[in-house]
Amino acid sequence: MRKILVIGSLNMDQVLQIEHIPVAGETILCQDMKLVCGGKGANQAFTCGRLGCHVEMLGSVGQDENGSALLANLKGEGVDTLHIQRLPDYPTGMAVIAVEKTGNNSILVIQGANVMTDEAYISANIDRIQAADAIVLQLEIPLPTVTFAAREGKKAGKLVILDPAPAAELPDELYHCVDVIKPNETELGLLTGMPVGTAEEIERAARRLLERGVGSVVVTLGGAGAMLVHNGGSVLFPGKKVEVVDTTAAGDSFTAAMAMFLTEGYSLEQAITFAIEVAAVVVTRPGAQSSIPNVDEIGEIHELFI
Ligand code: RIB
Repeated sequence: MRKILVIGSLNMDQVLQIEHIPVAGETILCQDMKLVCGGKGANQAFTCGRLGCHVEMLGSVGQDENGSALLANLKGEGVDTLHIQRLPDYPTGMAVIAVEKTGNNSILVIQGANVMTDEAYISANIDRIQAADAIVLQLEIPLPTVTFAAREGKKAGKLVILDPAPAAELPDELYHCVDVIKPNETELGLLTGMPVGTAEEIERAARRLLERGVGSVVVTLGGAGAMLVHNGGSVLFPGKKVEVVDTTAAGDSFTAAMAMFLTEGYSLEQAITFAIEVAAVVVTRPGAQSSIPNVDEIGEIHELFI
């Protein structure tokens, strides 16, 4: 089995169930708060591990209880955490996630140790990039680190996948090193500064990312599915109708599932179909890593993979 390396963030999520996302100046009362293992990078590594993939993660946590819990959760799914650094002077990253009744959320991230996932640390672990077949990146660690890792991955001939969340202005050099980018429609609008209100607008904005140098663009559209845009054309993939409880980690699990299929040599079309199945389960359950299905829970499509 081929190997995925996820380079990214690890956070302990404080999850609050609320009636609605607060507006500026509003105070909202909540009944309780749950701690759930999260972080976009860790959620992706966890998904790969849970779905039976050979996966390693690079990132940083503090020498605190949250860091220990995050590492234990990843190890429990077979993720290789050996080279994740534990830093005495930084707390593990945290996120405050408010989930409203519709399942939509708003997330505040306290970066903590994630800021120390820097170029020096990746340089010291460059052999981990060389040992992998695919590199999966997001934007909750410093942008120069993401660019450096993508460049090294590209140089070594690896498949480079970027989940551009949270969206930020990205340098052309990074776009040139990315084989597949997976923004949601909001992130696509922020990355390009273009309207994304209709399918035509989404395709036009995605083409802008192709012009900037990425290989393929996969735009997730929430319950409406996903759109693949590449130089050969575009394909719309329908979503699955499910009862949405909490959308946290839907994008992360989609990226991970897609990365798994691509790494094993399946087509982007097959990878997206599989990823939609996985994310459709994730949104029916609360929390980040607590919501990720295993192979038995995602229907017959997983048989393509194992
Ligand atoms: O994508 C969901 C994740 O974003 C949460 O787990 C939270 O930690 C933030 O990183």
